[in-house]
Amino acid sequence: MRLGFLGCGTIASAVVRGLAGKGHQITVSERSTSRSAALAKAFGDVTVACNQSLVDASEVIFLGLMAETAEAVLNGLVFRDGQQVVSFMAGADLDQVADWVVPARAAAVMMPFPGIAQGGSPIMALGDTELLGQIFEPDNRVFALWDGAELKAYLAAQAVLSPAARLVGDAADWLGQRVSDPAQGEAFLRMLISASLQASGCGELIEALNTPGGFNQRLRLHMEAAGMRESLTEGLSKLEG
Ligand SMILES: NC(=O)c1ccc[n+]([C@@H]2O[C@H](COP(=O)([O-])OP(=O)(O)OC[C@H]3O[C@@H](n4cnc5c(N)ncnc54)[C@H](OP(=O)(O)O)[C@@H]3O)[C@@H](O)[C@H]2O)c1
Repeated sequence: MRLGFLGCGTIASAVVRGLAGKGHQITVSERSTSRSAALAKAFGDVTVACNQSLVDASEVIFLGLMAETAEAVLNGLVFRDGQQVVSFMAGADLDQVADWVVPARAAAVMMPFPGIAQGGSPIMALGDTELLGQIFEPDNRVFALWDGAELKAYLAAQAVLSPAARLVGDAADWLGQRVSDPAQGEAFLRMLISASLQASGCGELIEALNTPGGFNQRLRLHMEAAGMRESLTEGLSKLEG
């Protein structure tokens, strides 16, 4: 497909890295000059163009802009019928985007994570998830959401990633003070946790690790008694409000 990226910041450049070399023709905007130039240098199928040339050259246009600046940027551009627009912008809903890109079709809002550059990443999406599946699967997985309220809830819940990384990082530091190769210790814990959660559901895994008096059960009960679960629910509810 002919894909264009308006805004070539943190998330757009991660998405481009994930799609490069997969048979698409990719155009990125000139802004974030060092990022766009690095992408064009690294990948033969990525070229840099001004915003209007990018729109003219693309069948699907991704919006990697900040929502606050999007309206002004998009109002200065001419879109055409038959083009599809996919927004990464957390702060703008699909109806707003549709008004800004007439007569193109505002196809979807998708929230990628930086890990999309390597593939194997979850993508939260609203709208035409079939189109997104064609572009991003099977390297990644598109999670179709029902409406804006669901997207808001997913956006809050995904924030569990940072405390989860904190927990594993702290356990790795604790381990690192007791072993000869701290980096290997952290790699072990990261692999243990990601592979275990990839292989089974959370409830199922907790059950499998629930041997009475076993280390896993003892540590979990200790942390639950310290309020871990209440603290998480309270924090998520604050994000939601
Ligand atoms: N970061 C994430 O993990 C993530 C995940 C999901 C969704 N998002 C959403 O993605 C959007 C971008 O986030 P980000 O973190 O990638 O921000 P960012 O790094 O600041 O990217 C914004 C990009 O917009 C460009 N830009 C500004 N004015 C422009 C113009 N007139 N023409 C073309 N490009 C212009 C900026 O260029 P300059 O650098 O030259 O100003 C920059 O490349 C946000 O709406 C955010 O909500 C981000």
